[in-house]
Amino acid sequence: MKKKSIYIKSYGCQMNVYDSNRIKDLFLNKGYDITNEISEASVTILNTCHIREKAVEKVYSDIGRIKKNKNSDMKLVVAGCVAQAEGNEIMKRSPSVDYVVGPQSYHKLLDMINQEEERLNSDFLQNEKFKNLIFNPSKLSSEFISIQEGCDKFCSFCVVPYTRGPEFSRPVMDIVNEAKIYSNKGVQEVILLGQNVNAYHGKGNDSKTKNLAYLINKISEIDKIKRIRYMTSHPIDMDDSLINIHGDNQKLMPFLHLPIQSGSNRILKKMNRKHTVSDYLKIVDKIRKVRPDIALSSDFIVGFPDETDNDFSSTMEFIEKVKFVIAYSFIYSPRPGTPAQKKDNIDINLKKARLTALQSLLKNQQINYNKSFINKKLEVLFEKNGRHKNQFVGRTIYNQSAFTNSSKTILNKIMSVEITNSTNFALECQI
Ligand code: SAH
Ligand code: SF4
Ligand code: F3S
Repeated sequence: MKKKSIYIKSYGCQMNVYDSNRIKDLFLNKGYDITNEISEASVTILNTCHIREKAVEKVYSDIGRIKKNKNSDMKLVVAGCVAQAEGNEIMKRSPSVDYVVGPQSYHKLLDMINQEEERLNSDFLQNEKFKNLIFNPSKLSSEFISIQEGCDKFCSFCVVPYTRGPEFSRPVMDIVNEAKIYSNKGVQEVILLGQNVNAYHGKGNDSKTKNLAYLINKISEIDKIKRIRYMTSHPIDMDDSLINIHGDNQKLMPFLHLPIQSGSNRILKKMNRKHTVSDYLKIVDKIRKVRPDIALSSDFIVGFPDETDNDFSSTMEFIEKVKFVIAYSFIYSPRPGTPAQKKDNIDINLKKARLTALQSLLKNQQINYNKSFINKKLEVLFEKNGRHKNQFVGRTIYNQSAFTNSSKTILNKIMSVEITNSTNFALECQI
């Protein structure tokens, strides 16, 4: 008999990538294969994202497309944050969807499919979930580890507290053990994930609560782990111990993704961000004191309700001042159930114009930053094959994408390279 197989598509953030890897491991463990062709799959899983309206539209259009070609044996599963937020609605709107499972209960999916009793599970079972997962590295260079889930911050625009549930931190040793499993198979870099990763407050062996700095130091004791990163951080949880280990811990990579969302205090207040622009600048000063070469990255939302030209100018001035090596920016998207949803009063053309201006400033900063490395030496962890023959692609210590040619394989190796050129978004280098 042909082996059963799953097809899984991941939308949204890295935490969804991690969850998709765990879902694959659960199915592999029960004898399923992984396929890249929906037509061959006995189970198709869409691991979805709810963060902006566009992300959700993509899911529904994919469901529609799959429905047309769906053979009657194939089970269609909607998992992830749309499943959590709109589970009942999906069941009503799309009868072709067989199962709906949220991000904190996907360990139950195999039972749901086998027993055919429960079709929807959106319980917040963080603790139980992690106890039931299986951990195999998805590749042999760099691996994500979710250490913290959910969010208690309730920024007025954001669905995450509703889709991922309340903040939950895994115990220190569970995470260290997961990192050991990966490193024993050859993984050299771990990226610690959480929607609010620096709010981490997991239990240590002494049953006392430990912070992210403690956890990073513990993981860095694993010999075979050479690089540690973490994301995404919130400014109000950037405590001094975390800032200081950027100077002390050589395995902690000099890169920090710290979203601010807006450079206007008036808008930050309306966003319920609980920090000001000057709070953020203080963090930047402190971290540059202990690690002068730290590469900073951020997220921005433009066109938040009531954002004036003045507010937007403040954001542009803020970017000029800090200088980001990369940043992500989005047009405000009103989300169901969030406090900011009631109002969406900035004209779409103005939103687009602001986004274009902001992205062009950020892109110039990125290009100038990358150019400054030409003729310099850097360490790169090579993670995958490039598009061309003998080409390899990896990441520098500052998280820039870097590529080179080599007749011998350099996959999963950390190499010292010289930067020969820079394109808009990547560095060309020579070993
Ligand atoms: N936990 C992170 C962000 C998670 S969501 C933090 O606290 O910053 C990733 C990014 O999506 C956010 O930083 C924000 O810039 C963007 N985002 C979230 N909700 C949005 C919305 N309603 N409209 C547009 N962008 C949004
Ligand atoms: Fe969303 Fe704010 Fe929580 Fe980040 S901190 S996940 S933006 S509510
Ligand atoms: Fe999207 Fe959920 Fe991540 S809404 S950004 S997949 S936490």
